[in-house]
Amino acid sequence: MTVTRSVVLGCGSYLPARLVTNDDLTKIVETSDEWIVQRTGIRERHIAADGELTSDLGVAAARAALADAKVDGQSIDLIVLATSTPDNTFPASAVAVQAALGITRGAAFDLQAVCSGFVYGMATADGLLRAGVHQRALVIGAETFSRILDWTDRSTCVLFGDGAGAVVMEAQQQAGTREDRGLLTAHLRSDGRHKKKLYVDGGPSSTGTVGHLRMEGKEVFRFAVGAITDVIKDVFRDTGYTADDLDWFVPHQANKRIIDGSAHKLGIAPEKVVMTVDRHGNTSAASIPLALDVAVKDGRIKRGDLVLLEAMGGGFTWGAALVRW
Ligand code: ACO
Repeated sequence: MTVTRSVVLGCGSYLPARLVTNDDLTKIVETSDEWIVQRTGIRERHIAADGELTSDLGVAAARAALADAKVDGQSIDLIVLATSTPDNTFPASAVAVQAALGITRGAAFDLQAVCSGFVYGMATADGLLRAGVHQRALVIGAETFSRILDWTDRSTCVLFGDGAGAVVMEAQQQAGTREDRGLLTAHLRSDGRHKKKLYVDGGPSSTGTVGHLRMEGKEVFRFAVGAITDVIKDVFRDTGYTADDLDWFVPHQANKRIIDGSAHKLGIAPEKVVMTVDRHGNTSAASIPLALDVAVKDGRIKRGDLVLLEAMGGGFTWGAALVRW
């Protein structure tokens, strides 16, 4: 008996032109390249130009993904845009992307799960595709975190960057085995008791302002490795796969120490870990599709490879997904 799976047809990404190194940041706050590299692994990040919006980044990534998938934008009937930095409070930035791509059918909406947004977005699109509600989806992670950073707070402003990544997913009939192509499983988690550990101190219903990112870095760090490894163990239990079966591990790119710690705890070999945090910083919901695109375009991730995605962020939210590329 066949089953419907959401198969990734292609991916794409976009980074704003302006590159900001750690040394550049030493001119703004009291920090050093050595401190940032040692604590986070970050060396540089891209920052959006004045007037360059989250939806602009999303459109560029979406166009690249459509070209990579060799499909026309008109065939897309679902756009899920994961972001915590929308152009406006409403409408959803996803509809700006939809309009820029000239798409007038189907549905487009934003999804807000902070850094876990892309994994949440893939799982959401997968549900709608497998249910037969939509046939072909763009799942986009796009962020301009530079706009919500407190540029006087050295403990947060050095960590983040701007960017966007996207995948095209299509409902396809597959054999119904774990060797199928597509999203094999996704597990999503949240625990709102931690909402004050990583949040933005403004919003339409509270202050009426946009606000700035605030974080208890040590608390986030402490929670991250345990949460990530737990949800990945659920993915392994669900599919019967183990760390040895993986071809690639593409984690959310927040901090090299969190990534290394999680991979080590799970027994994932370091050479299977895709790491882009050094060049991109933490781009929140955009980090996984940006990293995926780097590894696909440089020839590491190939069709048929087993790829594990994982993210954790504000809320706390976290999740993992296993994809046969
Ligand atoms: N440059 C130099 N010194 C700094 C900087 C900086 N940019 N930032 C903080 N410091 C100082 C602090 O003031 C402190 O000084 P003190 O000892 O004199 O008080 C010292 O460095 C140590 O600060 P800690 O906060 O204890 O540093 P820690 O080792 O915890 O590292 C970090 C901080 C990198 C933020 C770490 O806690 C971390 O990575 N946390 C996870 C954060 C994260 O990844 N968040 C994103 C995940 S979720 C998401 O993606 C949204």
